[in-house]
Amino acid sequence: MDEKGIAVKALVVYYSLTGRGEEIAGILEGELRESGMEVTAVALEPDPPFALPVKFLKTLMLTAYGGMGMGRKLKSLPPEVYEDEYDTVVLIGPSWGFHPAPPMTYFAREILPGIRLSATAKTVVVITCRRYWRRHLKLLREYLARSGLKVSGYLALEHQGREPLRFLAITARLAQKEPPLRRQLGRLYPPFGLSEEQVGCIHALASGMTEGNIGRSVRASGGKERRLYDNQAYLISTQEKMTLLARRLATIPYLILRYWLRGLIPTDMKEPGDIMRKYIRDYEAEIILERLGVVERDAAAAMKALTYMHNLTTKGEITEMTSHRCVRRESHCPAAGFLTQGFCRDILSGPAFRGLCEAINPDLEHIHTTYLSGGDDVCELIFEMRR
Ligand SMILES: Cc1cc2nc3c(=O)[nH]c(=O)nc-3n(C[C@H](O)[C@H](O)[C@H](O)COP(=O)(O)O)c2cc1C
Repeated sequence: MDEKGIAVKALVVYYSLTGRGEEIAGILEGELRESGMEVTAVALEPDPPFALPVKFLKTLMLTAYGGMGMGRKLKSLPPEVYEDEYDTVVLIGPSWGFHPAPPMTYFAREILPGIRLSATAKTVVVITCRRYWRRHLKLLREYLARSGLKVSGYLALEHQGREPLRFLAITARLAQKEPPLRRQLGRLYPPFGLSEEQVGCIHALASGMTEGNIGRSVRASGGKERRLYDNQAYLISTQEKMTLLARRLATIPYLILRYWLRGLIPTDMKEPGDIMRKYIRDYEAEIILERLGVVERDAAAAMKALTYMHNLTTKGEITEMTSHRCVRRESHCPAAGFLTQGFCRDILSGPAFRGLCEAINPDLEHIHTTYLSGGDDVCELIFEMRR
């Protein structure tokens, strides 16, 4: 760290089979160096290696291999990886079978704990995938937590285009063949590499890293930000409401069951409020931010997600909205008549918004000052960055 507390030394670790991760690492490394950071970039080389071409059957085998959460040993890394102390670590790698690819799994579990990091070191995860990155992120979070590290920010870069052509294009690239009906379908096939928008996201991530504000600049995949009307509400179709409610109806009972069975099957839920906290943190926050097209990872992002969630039932207005601090005052809640303030604070809304903060930015904090359920005129909900 320099005297202003800004990161100066970054370790960029990547694994890439078909080249997207390598391209990302190249852009990130260049940008970070240009802005004065010292960068050590390391390509993970599995031992024995995975090599192209990979035909369809072998892809299935590798998918199963990745999907079992297996690591693949690596060739030894350059000595400076262990000698230097880093302020930022970036892990770039593809999803295989909904998991980090085996070389990254091995790195995160076996090698990362032996790397020297400064006390305030940030860890950034960049995922390349066809479509499915949430489980990958969740698992990396778990692996990093074993070394006492948290994911400070992440970027998930899906392949361009739509299915099934996207799937065919990836499979063909792995087999190093032309995709089927390439000539006939022409431009309908999506380009293989990174889109302009994704390159923009990588640049934003790099500037966030050099400014010491990683959380601010990361995003999942494309899409414009949705309009928030009059600081009050989003337009949400009935179908969208139904899918959200259906997911809650399916996931929350499952989490309650896992909580009850915590003596038999270990879970990170320790208190009843953790059910809600975990649900929002691991299952809902990212889906909502992606749906809203929210790029930032700040107080405003949390407020937008809260407004979306509460649009289903409550009425309220945002009275303060900056990236550092946001306030929303809610005048009507259908549950206020029969819930106690303690229930809202400890089981429902308190843990839910703490989970939202944890998902968005470790520096974000939730404060709930007044409660409709406690007899106040309004519920006042605040999100604030700690620094
Ligand atoms: C063996 C294998 C398994 C894969 N499994 C998944 C998966 O479960 N989910 C997904 O979204 N993409 C999956 N993919 C697609 C890759 O994650 C994606 O193509 C990624 O961009 C490749 O990055 P790279 O070019 O850096 O290797 C898989 C690819 C391979 C080779």
